[in-house]
Amino acid sequence: MEDTKTKYDILIDFLKPGMVLSGDLFSKEGVFLYPARKPITQKFIDQIKAQGIKELYYTKEVKKDLSEVYPPMFSEEIKENAKEVLDNVMKQIKEDKKIEIQEVKEIIERLFKEMIQKLGKAVINLSVVKNYDDYTYIHSLNVTTLSMFFAKFLGASDFVIKEIGTGALLHDVGKVKIPTSILYKPGELTEEELTVIKKHPIIGYFAIKDEPTVSTYAKKIVLFHHERYDGNGYPLGVKFDRIGRYPQIVSLCDIFDALTSERPYKKGMSISQALDFIMKKSGTYFEPLIAQKFIMEMSKLYGLPSPYGVGTFVLLNTGEKGVIIHKDSEYSMKPTVLLIENSIGKTMSKIKLNLQLDSHRYILRVITELDEIDRLKILLM
Ligand SMILES: [Fe+2]
Repeated sequence: MEDTKTKYDILIDFLKPGMVLSGDLFSKEGVFLYPARKPITQKFIDQIKAQGIKELYYTKEVKKDLSEVYPPMFSEEIKENAKEVLDNVMKQIKEDKKIEIQEVKEIIERLFKEMIQKLGKAVINLSVVKNYDDYTYIHSLNVTTLSMFFAKFLGASDFVIKEIGTGALLHDVGKVKIPTSILYKPGELTEEELTVIKKHPIIGYFAIKDEPTVSTYAKKIVLFHHERYDGNGYPLGVKFDRIGRYPQIVSLCDIFDALTSERPYKKGMSISQALDFIMKKSGTYFEPLIAQKFIMEMSKLYGLPSPYGVGTFVLLNTGEKGVIIHKDSEYSMKPTVLLIENSIGKTMSKIKLNLQLDSHRYILRVITELDEIDRLKILLM
């Protein structure tokens, strides 16, 4: 699998003594400053500060196929087993037979146990689609892995994590009833074809809705995994208050894996590009706090810089806009923000807000629109 070289712009305040960067460090002008994988020293920070260097960058190779770097999260045997179970369920749905839910429960139990054993020792090592016929299976397993991991990070109970896993593994089973000519059609779909595809959450939901051993959590995940926070999703177009947080977790993981996967008609995005996409959709597709936590956790996991760097312009849940001026740790979700504008666009006079001390405010999203950033910069002067 090809490596993607990504450039990360940072400010001098990003560097802390003891920090180890995975790529060589350069000044903004491209002058080499410090080698990769060598702990940054206070002496070095003082030196470049004395030279007046404020903006720097480093480059990092992001491997998409992490199996070359990290031990796998799941053994090949368990993955094969999961494939068989999913194949069986899809065959049963295709033939309008009752699905054998016990098999699904057992494989989720095994995946859960293996995940708990390896937590902290293995990264989320997503499988790469090598054979396009396997896409639905590989994608479903990746979404299950990511969703269970992220639910664990959010503090969900073991029962809930397993139900999220069940919903995630089954989220796309309804696709078995969609003609493959539509499902694997390269390029744009027509209105009619889209209408057909958009039925798959309902087909999947009907396959499990009468199963007494499957909880409402898992059933709602299958039905609502394409619904959006703002109500502009499908099949029902319901908003977050009806969707709930668990289908949103699976929805995030579904989009993340779909964006980073290679398909016959498109190249996969890099992890940082996919996280940027999710950031842009925070507050529309996704519940903002869940989206921000996902982005932060994935950045940490894959060794990417936090999206909340010092100097980043942000929009708060209150509608206020500001710039991050300090954070206590690299992946802090509650940095200190200098407020620039209030919710009705009135300029604020340099109020520093430590989000750790404010339980009502949080970052809704990073402001990425260049015009808006330029406008806020002018207000800061
Ligand atoms: Fe889907």
